[in-house]
Amino acid sequence: MLSVPKLFFTITLNYILSAIAVPTWEGLNGRNSIGSLVPGAAYIEAIGPTREHDYQTRHLSVQIPGQPGNLTLAPNTRAPPLFYIHRNQLWQYNNETAIYYVNVVNTTETSHFPLQLVLGRKKVGITNGFWQWRGTMLYYDQGQKGITGIYYNCPLEDGSAGVFMYLQPGPTPLSCEQVTLHSFSRSYRHRNGG
Ligand SMILES: *[C@@H]1O[C@H](CO)[C@@H](O)[C@H](O)[C@H]1NC(C)=O
Ligand SMILES: *[C@@H]1O[C@H](CO)[C@@H](O)[C@H](O)[C@H]1NC(C)=O
Ligand SMILES: *[C@@H]1O[C@H](CO)[C@@H](O)[C@H](O)[C@H]1NC(C)=O
Repeated sequence: MLSVPKLFFTITLNYILSAIAVPTWEGLNGRNSIGSLVPGAAYIEAIGPTREHDYQTRHLSVQIPGQPGNLTLAPNTRAPPLFYIHRNQLWQYNNETAIYYVNVVNTTETSHFPLQLVLGRKKVGITNGFWQWRGTMLYYDQGQKGITGIYYNCPLEDGSAGVFMYLQPGPTPLSCEQVTLHSFSRSYRHRNGG
């Protein structure tokens, strides 16, 4: 379906085959990593200051599992979606035939919040941004502007919620909650030196 991920998978398979020979392979994060076939693919956990969420783990997720659409934060998910970064692009790994772009869409006009994270089959929206991990945290930069690692969980008019970013620092919009996004299960890569 997508030529870039296919190419990537060919490369990835070679990577996996070589990695299997490495003794520290057993140190990786079990099913989560092996099952995905993509080294470094991991679920993304949202951490916010809101007290009411203290008892919950929330993950970056989609409204309909396996389908593209607005990204959202889902509490206590049994099998959260897996994500990885390749060439500065954030991807969502659904299965070996369905890998989605995490698109950054300018929704200023439609939602009153600036940039929304939307899963898509094609790359749309803003195309000159850079995704990267710094430690466990997910960052997005665009030219000289960066988001300092803060994302906003905001209610939408249809009753759902979306995940947004601001490239300019400013006060948190009234209805939104600030979160940071983390991947704690990628750590085996450091142990493997990968
Ligand atoms: C992969 O996921 C897509 C979208 O959810 C689904 O239509 C397809 O059947 C899945 N393919 C496999 C091999 O599981
Ligand atoms: C988003 O669109 C608005 C106008 O529709 C524009 O003023 C703004 O600069 C755009 N933001 C980005 C980051 O492209
Ligand atoms: C996705 O987000 C947009 C706001 O950008 C909203 O208008 C739309 O209703 C949302 N779609 C769904 C299916 O919730």
